[in-house]
Amino acid sequence: MQTDVRKKMLELFSKHKGEFISGQEMADYIGCSRTAVWKHIEELRKEGFELEAVRKKGYRINKAPERVTENEIRLGLKTKTLGREIYYYESLDSTQKIAHSLANEGAPEGTIVIADEQTMGKGRMSRIWHSPKYTGIWMSIILKPNIPIHKAPQLTLLAAVAVVQAMEDTTNVTPQIKWPNDVLINGKKVTGILTELQAEADRIHSVIIGMGINVNQSKEDFPEELQQKATSLMIETGEKQVRSSFVQTLLLKLETLYEMYLQKGFAPIKLLWESYAISIGKEITATTLQSVIRGQALGITDEGVLLVKDREGIVHSIYSADIDIL
Ligand code: BTN
Repeated sequence: MQTDVRKKMLELFSKHKGEFISGQEMADYIGCSRTAVWKHIEELRKEGFELEAVRKKGYRINKAPERVTENEIRLGLKTKTLGREIYYYESLDSTQKIAHSLANEGAPEGTIVIADEQTMGKGRMSRIWHSPKYTGIWMSIILKPNIPIHKAPQLTLLAAVAVVQAMEDTTNVTPQIKWPNDVLINGKKVTGILTELQAEADRIHSVIIGMGINVNQSKEDFPEELQQKATSLMIETGEKQVRSSFVQTLLLKLETLYEMYLQKGFAPIKLLWESYAISIGKEITATTLQSVIRGQALGITDEGVLLVKDREGIVHSIYSADIDIL
């Protein structure tokens, strides 16, 4: 409901580009009170709109937030395959959900789905991924590699390497990877990756790599329970980033690594991944859906499985878990 009001408000502002619109005119157009107009103006400000208010004249938009629309991403994109089809949404429940339907309908490899906001962003272990408007990169990428199912986790690790490389290229931060796919800066999570498969018997139809990258959030933009655990590129660099150009760099890194992977296999990707990994060699706990395993993280296998040696010397293969470094 609230967003409907804002939609109408923006519609009116677009009709009168660069002009002042009075609160009363807006209230009449939308069919709400002037107090409601004022409340929604404040909401727009929070979303990054720069609004000027002048007595007796009303409100004017001086600057709208930067978006990640198809045009913004396409202009300057240097990839061959990734991003050849781009589906942009200003707001949707989950890019992952749309990417699944598109893959089902035969979308080609390299199709991406990206949104400026997700209302039901999907995280690992059935969690919700907080995806507020205009602040992050909420994107799903469809790949169609000709590999057996058990090798699919390798692509998650590959994606994490691409994120780290893109961050190193565009900022001065040094991110690290916490197995399997959390990208951290100064110990706080800046990116989460969710890889899902569409497969049949041992044949992969599509791999859907969902990436949630915190870019321009300030600390207060995170819910309180995340403020100690999560961070954004802006918090770490002190500078606002242009999300669409980050997407371009990221897609290029991802494409280069993916081509390398298809030609040479996982070995070179594994080396890169290990050079960024934070948990290897450390004492950790791995919380899986079934149990909690404590021990030393020995490394990853060629399939991307984490090996943890417990106190009794038993080596556990961890396929999916939450890792805490002790
Ligand atoms: C994690 O829990 O660490 C993974 C989070 C993955 C979130 C991304 S945002 C884009 C894509 N669409 C979703 O609904 N989820 C993934």
